[in-house]
Amino acid sequence: MADHYKDEVLDHEYDGITEYDNPMPGWWLALYALCIVWAVVYVVGIGFGILPDYQDDLRDGQKELADLRREYEKTRPVIVIDEGMLLAAAADPLKVAQGGEVYTSYCASCHGDLGQGMVGPNLTDDYWLHGQKATQIHQVVRDGVDGKGMPPWGNIITPEQSVDVVAYVASLRGTNPPKAKGPQGELLEPVPEGDVPEGDAPADPAPADPAPVVPAPAGDAPANPAPAVEPPAVDVPADGATPAPEEG
Ligand code: HEC
Repeated sequence: MADHYKDEVLDHEYDGITEYDNPMPGWWLALYALCIVWAVVYVVGIGFGILPDYQDDLRDGQKELADLRREYEKTRPVIVIDEGMLLAAAADPLKVAQGGEVYTSYCASCHGDLGQGMVGPNLTDDYWLHGQKATQIHQVVRDGVDGKGMPPWGNIITPEQSVDVVAYVASLRGTNPPKAKGPQGELLEPVPEGDVPEGDAPADPAPADPAPVVPAPAGDAPANPAPAVEPPAVDVPADGATPAPEEG
């Protein structure tokens, strides 16, 4: 390749050292020239706002993201959370089991692994600070109790998870775990028994649950111990006298 340069020795010489006049290969020079042209285009283009710069790209990207989010919001199923659908979830062993997982991750540290109460109140008894209805429990879970140490979970768990965990909490009632924390709040009649026929879906099962949960593969659905345990019927004295607090 270099043979045609061979003879072009320049006519100067220093201490016996001579040099060839080898020009850069054409393709290299072309690339070099292109870089210079591009540099000018780039500096002028960006400098005068003709070419999009980083800020423009960022703005476009964010707009695209906002559009996607809006699109997603439109298609996302809205779940209507009311007493009926929460009680229906509480009657669904799958949802209760899923709620148990949420509970273990987010709640057990304060309410105890069995709901027996630690920093937070005992969730297995019939004493409630903020009401025993499923919607009331759901509201406490979603919004927390400001200044009382119960964090709001509405932005941490999904709406589906909040329903599941309320279903799980409902299943804890009457399980009488060992070392349960003493009663806090008011003694309240359990809701589900009064309102919902045993083993039956509530009368108005909430506008066809639009966010069906994908069923877990049959066979490994975690066993839900709650239904097996009959709530002790003896806790509530009929005459309304101060009930003896459970030992412990
Ligand atoms: C950082 C500790 C903490 C965590 C974590 C926590 N809680 Fe609580 N929770 C509390 C405290 C403290 C209260 C009592 C608030 C009060 O005194 O009003 C409470 C109250 C509640 C109540 C109302 C009880 C009543 O008597 O009315 C429910 C229901 C409840 N928590 C459920 C949950 C669930 C479900 C989770 C998990 C998603 C959870 N909590 C996570 C500390 C916690």
